[in-house]
Amino acid sequence: MRLYSTLPMSFAALLATSPVTAHPQPDHPSAVQLSIRTSAAGASIAHSPSFSSFSFEPAFWVDFFGNASSPNALTFRLLDLIHQHGGAPIIRPGGITMDSMIFNASASPGDSVRDVSTTGGVYRTTVGPAYYESWSNFPNGTKFVSTLNFGNDSLDIALGLAVASVIYQRELVEYFELGNEPTNYPSSRWNDSTAAYVAQWKNWTAAIDAAVNSTVGASSDAAQLGYGSERWWASSATTDITGLKVKPADIIPFGIDSMDQVAEYSIHSYPFSTCDPARAALATIANILNHTYLASYADTSILPSALAALDAGSSWTIGEFNSISCSGAPNVSDTFAQALWVIDSELIYAVRNASSCHLHQGATLAFQSGDQVNTPGANGTPGFSTYDMVYPETSELRGAARVLPSFAGLLFLAEVFATDGTRIVEVGAPEGVDADYFAAYALYEGGGDGVLSKLAVVNLRPYYANLTTDYTVSIDISAHIMGGALNPKHHGPQPHYGGDATATQAYVKRLTAPYVDAKDAADVTWAGQSFANGSAIGQVRKEVVGDDGIVSVRGSEAVLVFL
Ligand SMILES: *[C@@H]1O[C@H](CO)[C@@H](O)[C@H](O)[C@H]1NC(C)=O
Ligand SMILES: *[C@@H]1O[C@H](CO)[C@@H](O)[C@H](O)[C@H]1NC(C)=O
Ligand SMILES: *[C@@H]1O[C@H](CO)[C@@H](O)[C@H](O)[C@H]1NC(C)=O
Ligand SMILES: *[C@@H]1O[C@H](CO)[C@@H](O)[C@H](O)[C@H]1NC(C)=O
Ligand SMILES: *[C@@H]1O[C@H](CO)[C@@H](O)[C@H](O)[C@H]1NC(C)=O
Ligand SMILES: *[C@@H]1O[C@H](CO)[C@@H](O)[C@H](O)[C@H]1NC(C)=O
Ligand SMILES: *[C@@H]1O[C@H](CO)[C@@H](O)[C@H](O)[C@H]1NC(C)=O
Ligand SMILES: *[C@@H]1O[C@H](CO)[C@@H](O)[C@H](O)[C@H]1NC(C)=O
Ligand SMILES: *[C@@H]1O[C@H](CO)[C@@H](O)[C@H](O)[C@H]1NC(C)=O
Ligand SMILES: *[C@@H]1O[C@H](CO)[C@@H](O)[C@H](O)[C@H]1NC(C)=O
Ligand SMILES: *[C@@H]1O[C@H](CO)[C@@H](O)[C@H](O)[C@H]1NC(C)=O
Ligand SMILES: *[C@@H]1O[C@H](CO)[C@@H](O)[C@H](O)[C@H]1NC(C)=O
Repeated sequence: MRLYSTLPMSFAALLATSPVTAHPQPDHPSAVQLSIRTSAAGASIAHSPSFSSFSFEPAFWVDFFGNASSPNALTFRLLDLIHQHGGAPIIRPGGITMDSMIFNASASPGDSVRDVSTTGGVYRTTVGPAYYESWSNFPNGTKFVSTLNFGNDSLDIALGLAVASVIYQRELVEYFELGNEPTNYPSSRWNDSTAAYVAQWKNWTAAIDAAVNSTVGASSDAAQLGYGSERWWASSATTDITGLKVKPADIIPFGIDSMDQVAEYSIHSYPFSTCDPARAALATIANILNHTYLASYADTSILPSALAALDAGSSWTIGEFNSISCSGAPNVSDTFAQALWVIDSELIYAVRNASSCHLHQGATLAFQSGDQVNTPGANGTPGFSTYDMVYPETSELRGAARVLPSFAGLLFLAEVFATDGTRIVEVGAPEGVDADYFAAYALYEGGGDGVLSKLAVVNLRPYYANLTTDYTVSIDISAHIMGGALNPKHHGPQPHYGGDATATQAYVKRLTAPYVDAKDAADVTWAGQSFANGSAIGQVRKEVVGDDGIVSVRGSEAVLVFL
């Protein structure tokens, strides 16, 4: 009953008398019910179609996106699909290699070019005008984070990147970000002093703001382009316990935003790792799909900074995240499990009021750890991360360029957030269903009390070929579909439905694969379609919810119910 303790009496009374608990289920004796509220009371902040966004390691920019004149068709087909399904990802060309990136106006036009050591470590990435020009290849409306090198401790380098980004793409730069994971810099840089870090960050961002302002021109122009004073992502720290404490919760008390520059507090999230053997042993399918663990990681490692940002009147983003740091775990993050993981993870952060989540894509970085499971490819060729949604080009290590099973999960998320202003509430696991492997979320549209519009259900239970049960959970949503007592569309003035009866009928779109460890994207379907080469194969399948209101979700499946 804890769930309802903050609700007004009238709603509690409605629940008490609601037919939900008394609904007979002759055909599905085992069907369970979810405690879904009809109003958005207690729901998250309003989310945008950019909620599900990306971070791409800049050293591998050309591998993922090609160059300005010759874009990588496969990656762009995937981004187009995400847009067609209602998403509008913000692109952060960020990660460890942004801290050794440099702009050179005379660099060869085919850039960006990474300089790689004999052990495959990327120690410098040089970008020229063509790097920024390639941003124009992205779907219409795509916004970017202009990411700046803090690692080289050279204001000239950071300023050069910032000014170049607004010279070449002044309409596409939404934010600036100075440095990636400063917690991993040599400790001699600030001697573990938060105050010293904050002082240098403020000194540089002020200098860069002034240079960008004078490049962009008259302040009215700047305002028109959205270059207000709040244009920075701040922090960009990991959740690791480190000597230098610069998470959002650490830097806010030190006055990081005293000049009103911060747009978003960014924090990075990697609940698992293959950076060393001890942690690699925990990076299993059964563990990455444990909802209890994922939610408790969010609450322990992320929430204090999230609340500090919100309390400061600001907003926060998961500026970089993925399942398993140090490029994933083969046979785990390159399977269908990763699709279910990414859905549940983004919804966990949506409930906790992140404004976006930037799924990281890249390749193994030799300098990141001397003890990691993954390796770069031979001779400095990329060892693409197994948590990527796509291997964007053919490589010695990963084989043919191809889409990975997790991509379809991003189409699921695009549809979850397709309506601007969507708010979300987590619905607890029903009685008798293992809360470690089940998550459900109610989605609301519109202001005020909102209207219950969708239901996302993720049955995270790993389902393998050798199992004799498929862990199907059957959910009774009859109270929330047309004719159901709790459907707000059935109360008060009747809205216009344009005379099309089917438009009012609840239906299900299903994300499925034969087994949780499926590795071939051709076997993964979202609403009946697969996307193995970046083109939809098959017809869209909407499963109309029958009069009994039962929706079944197998182990290792997710459904989006459109109410
Ligand atoms: C910039 O690139 C040009 C052409 O490759 C090269 O000659 C020059 O040395 C580079 N400048 C810097 C500062 O690296
Ligand atoms: C862009 O990429 C294409 C395909 O890899 C290549 O043929 C071309 O030379 C590149 N353009 C430049 C200017 O380097
Ligand atoms: C891009 O979007 C804007 C705003 O929605 C629209 O005005 C413009 O026509 C679009 N451009 C293209 C090339 O689709
Ligand atoms: C930046 O620092 C890295 C070491 O972290 C070094 O290898 C690289 O040469 C430096 N880049 C420039 C342009 O100074
Ligand atoms: C950090 O400590 C070392 C050794 O005490 C000192 O030489 C250096 O100047 C300090 N650096 C900063 C930024 O305070
Ligand atoms: C940054 O610090 C330097 C050296 O301490 C100083 O000369 C400069 O004026 C400062 N810049 C800003 C914008 O505060
Ligand atoms: C840059 O311009 C913005 C608004 O356009 C303004 O708020 C800010 O104070 C300016 N910053 C500097 C350092 O000039
Ligand atoms: C899931 O994670 C929680 C929290 O770490 C743990 O207590 C529980 O045992 C895990 N469940 C399974 C099935 O491993
Ligand atoms: C991944 O699974 C395949 C097929 O079962 C197996 O051959 C391979 O050794 C596994 N790789 C790793 C890193 O476990
Ligand atoms: C998220 O925002 C909603 C709406 O403002 C609020 O009720 C809720 O407490 C917030 N949750 C967190 C974790 O901040
Ligand atoms: C079923 O297969 C999975 C994956 O290969 C394996 O981890 C598990 O131990 C197997 N379970 C049984 C009951 O054989
Ligand atoms: C994708 O595969 C389908 C089926 O094999 C084929 O018809 C289609 O042309 C392919 N699309 C691309 C872009 O390769």
